[in-house]
Amino acid sequence: MVRGVGACLPERAVTNVELASRVDTSDDWIVQRTGIKQRYIAGDGETTVSLGTRAAARALASAGIAAADIDLIIVATSTPDHTFPSSASEIQAALGITQGVAFDLQAVCSGFVFAVTTADKFLTSGSHKRALVIGAETFSRLLDWEDRTTCVLFGDGAGAMVLEAVEGGEAGVIASKLRSDGRHRDKLYVDGGPSTTGTVGHLRMEGREVFKHAVGMVTDVIKACFAEAGITAEDIDWFVPHQANRRIIDASADKLGIAREKVVITVDVHGNTSAASIPLALDAAVADGRIKPGDLVMIEAMGGGFTWGAALIRW
Ligand code: UT7
Repeated sequence: MVRGVGACLPERAVTNVELASRVDTSDDWIVQRTGIKQRYIAGDGETTVSLGTRAAARALASAGIAAADIDLIIVATSTPDHTFPSSASEIQAALGITQGVAFDLQAVCSGFVFAVTTADKFLTSGSHKRALVIGAETFSRLLDWEDRTTCVLFGDGAGAMVLEAVEGGEAGVIASKLRSDGRHRDKLYVDGGPSTTGTVGHLRMEGREVFKHAVGMVTDVIKACFAEAGITAEDIDWFVPHQANRRIIDASADKLGIAREKVVITVDVHGNTSAASIPLALDAAVADGRIKPGDLVMIEAMGGGFTWGAALIRW
């Protein structure tokens, strides 16, 4: 079951107007095409590990669980502090955790859905008891700040969830579907890496192509989750999609017949924070009282690879 959530954003918010002073864009274009009004950008000393550690500490506090009781840490990130060790190992040490296992999982924007699903499989197998699942990113450090087609879209941040194995009951992940198709690699990728250029590289995206595939892919896996759980769109209480683009979110909700008032939106204030976007949105909706114990929550994402997936969670 979900025991708690937490989040952490960098200190500095950057508005569209501020970006328009750096690249040839406008507040109007960004708001109309994406719904984004601002994003947070990490400053000196703010990293994936530091943001992820703070989000994780807040999730532990909200769960009322001690760091010493965590035996599994999965960090979904494509922007680790170092090529190795994993950000999960670094966060584990920062939290003073010395037991259990910690590893990173890389599925770009789908990372949090992949990580929640993976953690659930560990917990339901009985091998582990309490998991910290973290989505943490500093995409600002992968961006080509001269490229207006990508640099206006992304932001930095981290979110975390504590999951606990419980006997019986139906709380926690009740259905999930993960998919990948590497043939779409060139539509969204980073043009560097340790084994090729020896550099970090920059994010490259054919936005229109990604957009074209997004709605169909995510609605397919969501429908598969509905079928597995034996429910319909009307049964869910909250739809918490990956926050890439308001138009993709609205089109997906409409296609599935999910009422707009059940959709949690944070893309306006966070931008696209990749693997961090869903836990940031979950934290916001728990903090303001929308998501409550017993609610049925659908999370979904699609991103580089392509990767895509959905998970249905009884809160
Ligand atoms: O999280 C991972 C998954 N990623 C996504 O889900 C992103 C999916 N894609 C998208 O969200 C959208 O495709 C974008 C927001 C990236 C772009 O929106 P679009 O409606 O697909 O626009 P477009 O790429 O078709 O570009 C329309 C026009 C172009 O000009 P021309 O060729 O029509 O003259 C672009 O050059 O807008 C121009 N443009 C801009 N103008 C002002 C592109 N970027 C900008 C910009 N400011 N920042």
